[in-house]
Amino acid sequence: MPNNSGVSFYSTTPIFYVNDAPHIGHAYTEVATDVLTRWHRQRGENAFMLTGTDEHGEKILRTAAANDTSPKEWADKLVAEAWLPLLDTIDIDNQDFIRTTEPRHEVNVQKFLQRLYDTGFIYRGEYEGNYCVGCEEYKTENDLLPGEGQFEGQDVCAIHSKPVEKLAETNYFFKLSEFQQKLLDFYEANPKFVQPESARNEVISFVRRGLDDLSISRSKEKFDWGIDIPWDDSHITYVWFDALLNYITAIGYGSDEPELKARFEQLWPASVQVVGKDILRFHAVIWPAMLMAADLPPAKRVFGHGWLLVGGEKMSKSKLTGIAPSQITDTFGSDAFRYYFMKAIAFGQDGSFSWEDLSARYQAELANGFGNLASRALAMVNKYFEGVVPAAGALTEIDQQVVAVAAKAVADADAAIEEIAIQDALNAIWTLVDELNNYITVTEPWVLAKDEANRERLATVMYVITEGLRVLSILLAPVIPKATAKLWSALALDSLGALSNQTIASAGVWGGIKSGSKLGALEPLFPRIEQE
Ligand code: MSP
Repeated sequence: MPNNSGVSFYSTTPIFYVNDAPHIGHAYTEVATDVLTRWHRQRGENAFMLTGTDEHGEKILRTAAANDTSPKEWADKLVAEAWLPLLDTIDIDNQDFIRTTEPRHEVNVQKFLQRLYDTGFIYRGEYEGNYCVGCEEYKTENDLLPGEGQFEGQDVCAIHSKPVEKLAETNYFFKLSEFQQKLLDFYEANPKFVQPESARNEVISFVRRGLDDLSISRSKEKFDWGIDIPWDDSHITYVWFDALLNYITAIGYGSDEPELKARFEQLWPASVQVVGKDILRFHAVIWPAMLMAADLPPAKRVFGHGWLLVGGEKMSKSKLTGIAPSQITDTFGSDAFRYYFMKAIAFGQDGSFSWEDLSARYQAELANGFGNLASRALAMVNKYFEGVVPAAGALTEIDQQVVAVAAKAVADADAAIEEIAIQDALNAIWTLVDELNNYITVTEPWVLAKDEANRERLATVMYVITEGLRVLSILLAPVIPKATAKLWSALALDSLGALSNQTIASAGVWGGIKSGSKLGALEPLFPRIEQE
């Protein structure tokens, strides 16, 4: 990985429950985080992306039991057969994958707990209330609805529509209530900590209403699939308290190994923690308070993105609206999957998935807009200059305009990524796609080719187009890494190094493609898809 700047970029996704296989909602979070991380790597930063699986708790235990197996065997199977393959399916370049059943996690969760216990942030108390296993969350009366049908007469969770458990047990509590003012001060001092703005407002008003202490253990009398409380082995750790710590255990928190200690120093606090808005409070309220209690800084940013909706409702496996990512990639490929979700939905807002919209954008934007541009450009250089990039003559006004649009696209896209506005970044990049298509229409290279007197002008036009494609390859690499790598090779640019090693800054410097280089062949980047 290029690491010229000495700057580190550490990104995380939520760790996903292994009770079921991934759907496109999980893949959406992965892709967005991967796009941001790849972009920062191309800025020359030392970029590290973490993802993984959340394997403890009652929900996983019940799923395993329903499948006549142990929770660990169930988790092993789901990780191997579903969650790791997902990363290939959608082309994720993560640097680590953490499972909460790994010793590196369990041991250091215990160290963290012990520290908070020793410093008085954890105490023993009585818990009485409701628990939703689907959410793995303690519920207040406001979170419940009267049950209907088979659950008539019972209280059900408003999200899962299933009865909650009535709990009355001795638990350990984390003094979350002590952190109300500290959190409010922190949000105030760090206006970009929670993003987007709507998420920030939601979090601040939640914290202003006051915080209750949080039960962080469950008695083993009920179930025992979790990490033992280090000073009391009749209790296991609450699954969310366990899960949130993955973000630091994975990068070396608690380790004595010099290499891991150095990694932790280098990467924490995380640059951005990407989560769905369903779990924003855990990440923007409980998690920073846990870190403050341990004298560690909270992450720099938590971004709560919107939901993929199907039929107007949050897509979910439990409501049988889940779509497997491979259903899309088998037909359209991983690049189109990545591009579609980043381009069609403003990151931070909800968005509806539809096959019609996906097909239409694939055809209009990827196949016609970008793919054809590349094929036509290479075909013309082959036809008019035997495949060799010609030297440009003096640039005219219209050529200079392409140079200016390219420079602006680089600057605007980079600024948008800084704001985690991925859709805006793509829109900025697309100004160059449109500009180049327009440039071909206006310059009419096929007309220039008819007269030998225009030879130099034709050479300049070909140079401008191929150089424009170099810039596009670099800018689009984080989103559509496969297609851009093919284009990079076809443009004979491998001599500059792998595409993923090209910096965003280098995209903004006109003249990177060398005249005299012999272009290679290019298969269609986004082939036509036959309608079924
Ligand atoms: N295990 C917890 C997270 C622990 S993190 C310390 C969990 N897991 S989950 O498997 O339920 O994943 C929830 C996450 O999946 C959401 O926050 C979001 O990132 C993603 N999504 C699940 N359904 C989604 C949609 N319908 N739309 C968009 N993202 C979705 O919660």
